[in-house]
Amino acid sequence: MPHTARFTVDPDFVIGEVDPRLYGTFVEHMGRCVYTGIYDPAHPTADAAGFRGDVAELVRELGTPLVRYPGGNFVSGYHWEDGVGPVADRPRRLDLAWRSVETNHVGTNEFLTWARGLDLEPMMAVNLGTRGIDAARALVEYCNHPGGTAWSDLRIKHGVAEPHAVKLWCLGNEMDGPWQTGHKTAVEYGRLAAEAGKAMHQVDPSIELVACGSSNSGMPTFGTWEREVLEQAYDEVDYLSLHAYYEEFDGDRASFLASGAQMDAYISDLVSTADHVRAVKRAKKRIWLSFDEWNVWYAQRFPGERNLETAEAPRLIEDTYSLTDAVVVGSLLITLLRHADRVAVACLAQLVNVIAPIRTEPGGASWRQTIFHPFALTARHARGRVLRTTARAPLVDTARHGEVAALDHVVTYDEESGGLTVLAVNRDPREPLLLEASLRGLPDGYRVVEHLLLSDDDHDAANTAAEPDRVVPRPVSGTSVAGGVLTAWLPPVSWSVVRLVRGAG
Ligand code: AHR
Repeated sequence: MPHTARFTVDPDFVIGEVDPRLYGTFVEHMGRCVYTGIYDPAHPTADAAGFRGDVAELVRELGTPLVRYPGGNFVSGYHWEDGVGPVADRPRRLDLAWRSVETNHVGTNEFLTWARGLDLEPMMAVNLGTRGIDAARALVEYCNHPGGTAWSDLRIKHGVAEPHAVKLWCLGNEMDGPWQTGHKTAVEYGRLAAEAGKAMHQVDPSIELVACGSSNSGMPTFGTWEREVLEQAYDEVDYLSLHAYYEEFDGDRASFLASGAQMDAYISDLVSTADHVRAVKRAKKRIWLSFDEWNVWYAQRFPGERNLETAEAPRLIEDTYSLTDAVVVGSLLITLLRHADRVAVACLAQLVNVIAPIRTEPGGASWRQTIFHPFALTARHARGRVLRTTARAPLVDTARHGEVAALDHVVTYDEESGGLTVLAVNRDPREPLLLEASLRGLPDGYRVVEHLLLSDDDHDAANTAAEPDRVVPRPVSGTSVAGGVLTAWLPPVSWSVVRLVRGAG
């Protein structure tokens, strides 16, 4: 008997609408994300502003609608004023977060102009590490005020007549982390976030604010930090941030493939924490979650900030991703979608070179890492409503997460077109899985438009500059609907997107 996983699709059972901001990414002044990543004036495809055309094309193809900037740990020591005005006058600074030399050749105006050119919504972070209320409200005024004040007129003098109209702002970054420049206790940070947020709202009442949650769910203050921060800042903020990076430990592939189980529990825990504070405060407003850093990161290989050589745009955490990593990334996206009722924003960290879906060589090639593919296909096809489906599936025993279902999946339904998208991962390291999805909640006549599969006999296969298309999604034949049941084969360690529509082809 084949291992079989079954679920039923009914468009009446809805978790929530897919917010396209779930497909956000992240550009930090770290390593080669900005310099020789998105920006490389010497590159043959560079535009007049020095931004790479080949990377811009890949960013478009990735389908991300939102980019967080400029950090990350970098923002906690950043003077945004260093990055505006004539480039020749900008200072070279020692960046304490990554022990790098920051030339400030790219700053707020260059980044925001680049982002707008690609239709990317910016998500800006303010420095609440070494700085505070005054620098934060000045940056909002510089970016968003139309004119007639010192900071807005300075922007106009710098050649940007129209306000940037940045709507989404992060109040610092990972302020619970002892490594963070200007690290604070929850109460210290919560008070500062509330007061900085208040001043930023006084400049522009239309902006939305993200308070820092824990740097990861393993922090000793996890849970308490979020409660104490929200006790201070609840009224001023709209979102609470979550960060998580996953990697394989000691060859334990089964646990790594089941990383989504940890992300799932993390999100549920913070929904409970935010709603606890809401109850105590008798607040009407609900806090949404912003999972604004997530990815696979082989952090065990990182020597730590203190051990870095000081250099301009050094090669930092340029992880090369395997087929297995791509399957995990696809599964983490599935987890985020299943929480569409509370997670509104999510950012794959980062966009280029630094733990990124896009890699480049300075002045040279650019290519898609394996993780590019599940991200781009999910961003393109998982739209509309996320449906509530419960699978009956064989279990995989994992050391870190206990027993998890071999099938990880989510279904989205586009009400206008009637189109269905099924995203499915077989997390079993060895056994293939037969997927049977009953469409009994839908009218007759659904058919499979395509089944794209990311799978490889070599689970460690990767894309490189020399072999950029070693791992790509491939169409599968034989996936079909018969008698109202969708049937598809899922090889071990694989990610699939199956798209269905109603009517003749
Ligand atoms: O994305 C890399 C780093 O990871 C970010 O700067 C920081 O916020 C996180 O710890």
